[in-house]
Amino acid sequence: MNQHTRLDPIPFIDVAAQRRRLGTAIDDAVGRVLNHCQFINGPEVTQLEADLAKFAGAKHVVACASGTDALLMVLMAKGIGPGDAVICPSFTFCATGEVVALTGATPVFVDVIEQTFNMDAASLSRGIAAARKAGLKPRAVIPVDLFGQPADFDAIAPIAEAEGLFILDDAAQGFGARYKGLRLGTFGLATATSFFPAKPLGCFGDGGAILTDDDGLAEVLRSIRVHGQGSDKYDNVRLGLTARIDTMQAAILIEKLRIFEDEIAARNRVADRYAQSLANVVTVPRLAEGCTSVWAQYTIRLPNGGRDAFAEALKSQGVPTAIYYPKSLHQQTAYRDFPVAEGGLPVSELLSADVISLPMHAYLDEASQERVVKAVRSALGA
Ligand SMILES: Cc1ncc(COP(=O)(O)O)c(C=O)c1O
Repeated sequence: MNQHTRLDPIPFIDVAAQRRRLGTAIDDAVGRVLNHCQFINGPEVTQLEADLAKFAGAKHVVACASGTDALLMVLMAKGIGPGDAVICPSFTFCATGEVVALTGATPVFVDVIEQTFNMDAASLSRGIAAARKAGLKPRAVIPVDLFGQPADFDAIAPIAEAEGLFILDDAAQGFGARYKGLRLGTFGLATATSFFPAKPLGCFGDGGAILTDDDGLAEVLRSIRVHGQGSDKYDNVRLGLTARIDTMQAAILIEKLRIFEDEIAARNRVADRYAQSLANVVTVPRLAEGCTSVWAQYTIRLPNGGRDAFAEALKSQGVPTAIYYPKSLHQQTAYRDFPVAEGGLPVSELLSADVISLPMHAYLDEASQERVVKAVRSALGA
């Protein structure tokens, strides 16, 4: 028996290690909220919004209850609804398309680029054509910064502009990454992010935020966040949601944001090590020119298929893996009747059939990295 089987399994994501690093900072922050008792809209929410705005270089941040709400609120604010089409990549987490359908509009799915996993601008154009053919009015595009890498905004923005679409960036996985030197948060009309615990910047529950430079949009988002309230609290001026972040999560995020930059650097060291040690046996992820990644996932592709056996072999060495996403959205039951770009989505289907993600977090020490590398190489007979 291999000696690795006697070692503890490596955590896929290690929230506990981060908790240890932060020591009593989180407990103290939560304690302060418990003492002042402003559990909703406490001072920490305002501080978090200011801290996030400074971090990302955005004019406004509207913190909210989840990444899904962040996306939905922007679509609601822009009056997206029946008869409208919103173009999304198919190879993404379901929330990207779900929010579109929740407004009564139609998600139109487009393909991604094989090397970066992000939206293919040529497919975006075909998706807009498919939307028009279906009698829909294309109104918006939601590029996703999948696995932590920014989408190709320079290719997407001119198409969106020419077609009159606004851009809502889904940075749920990419918040903290840079595109051509600038942090995500200022590309397009608005950026939505998630603070789900497994995200690169996660809280200890659900949370999210919208970043925008648009004053009017920010004001409407703040209203939608609280049932569409107007300046008179009892005169609700539009339909809204209960989509506030709670003060406790804001207090936790303020502490975590202080170490986020350092954690991003640590994630990049892990990614570099993986790339150096594995590029000759598997297809390692590629960063497009001008992009940095926060490595929400480290996703590889195998040379000859056999994903299930590969996952089993790694598991037997205490190395967990995960598959994001085994089915693209247009292949899932709830989404299969929505339109797709003309010519279909072959790359999304290919990736769903063969991608697999390795353990990735800021606290993956060198010995654990070595175990992952050895397990991958031995599973492939390298
Ligand atoms: C790409 C993407 N969009 C949206 C979301 C939704 O975020 P949340 O789970 O906070 O609602 C997630 C994460 O779960 C995601 O990965």
